[in-house]
Amino acid sequence: MTTILVTGANRGIGLEFVRQYADGASVIACCRKPAEAKDLNALVKSKDVRVMELDVGDASSAARLARALKGEAVDILINNAGVFGPGKQSAAHSDYEGFAQTFRINSIGPLIVSQALRDNLMAGRDKKLVTITSKMGSIADSSGGSLAYRASKAAVNMLMHVLSHDWAGDGILVGIFHPGWVQTDMGGRGALITPQESVRGLRDRIAELSAKTSGHYLDYLGKEIAW
Ligand SMILES: NC(=O)c1ccc[n+]([C@@H]2O[C@H](COP(=O)([O-])OP(=O)(O)OC[C@H]3O[C@@H](n4cnc5c(N)ncnc54)[C@H](OP(=O)(O)O)[C@@H]3O)[C@@H](O)[C@H]2O)c1
Repeated sequence: MTTILVTGANRGIGLEFVRQYADGASVIACCRKPAEAKDLNALVKSKDVRVMELDVGDASSAARLARALKGEAVDILINNAGVFGPGKQSAAHSDYEGFAQTFRINSIGPLIVSQALRDNLMAGRDKKLVTITSKMGSIADSSGGSLAYRASKAAVNMLMHVLSHDWAGDGILVGIFHPGWVQTDMGGRGALITPQESVRGLRDRIAELSAKTSGHYLDYLGKEIAW
């Protein structure tokens, strides 16, 4: 059975990944506070879902998870967890601590988790490393505002693109995917698509991820996004 690990799995797009993949796959659903993850824990009873603790911005938390999963194969690792960042992230006003925290979670976090769980990925069949980025990380297609969020997603795009080269020799495939504008706590109620639609598209992108598309920046429908 395919094993899929999802970060930020307690709500939003991450929770929907767990719901959809749990129909047929074994899912390791990671979140900061498993005891408080009501919707996620409800899935454990009927599906092959394990809830495990992970703060993606904390290397010691990732190391603890790696120790707990030692020797286990992960076929698909999905770096989904993310934050929009501080209230003040405009050209006029910036909360620098908030900026640093946004980078820690959105940019360094996926690297921390990918490196911590690399052996698990290597033990898997698919060896697919996926990061949920945002179109707002595109420099070519940028407007103003949301400096911390945009910069953190541009940074993670670069990091994952580099991994697509550096780990290609080991057969690891890297997906860098924008989920669309999605109705979650982050996307808001006015967003264009539901988490169900987004994750259906993302699962198709993950299924077709190959050496040809590894390291490409794509949206959930498979359209290339300019860097
Ligand atoms: N929604 C959109 O329109 C949209 C558009 C483009 C890209 N994205 C990206 O899609 C991904 C998922 O977003 P979403 O819309 O589902 O957001 P969301 O509803 O706000 O959920 C964010 C998830 O990330 C988790 N998280 C935050 N910081 C974490 C940390 N340090 N360690 C572990 N988990 C952490 C949250 O857990 P807690 O409950 O513990 O905070 C939550 O599970 C993000 O990377 C986001 O940037 C979303």
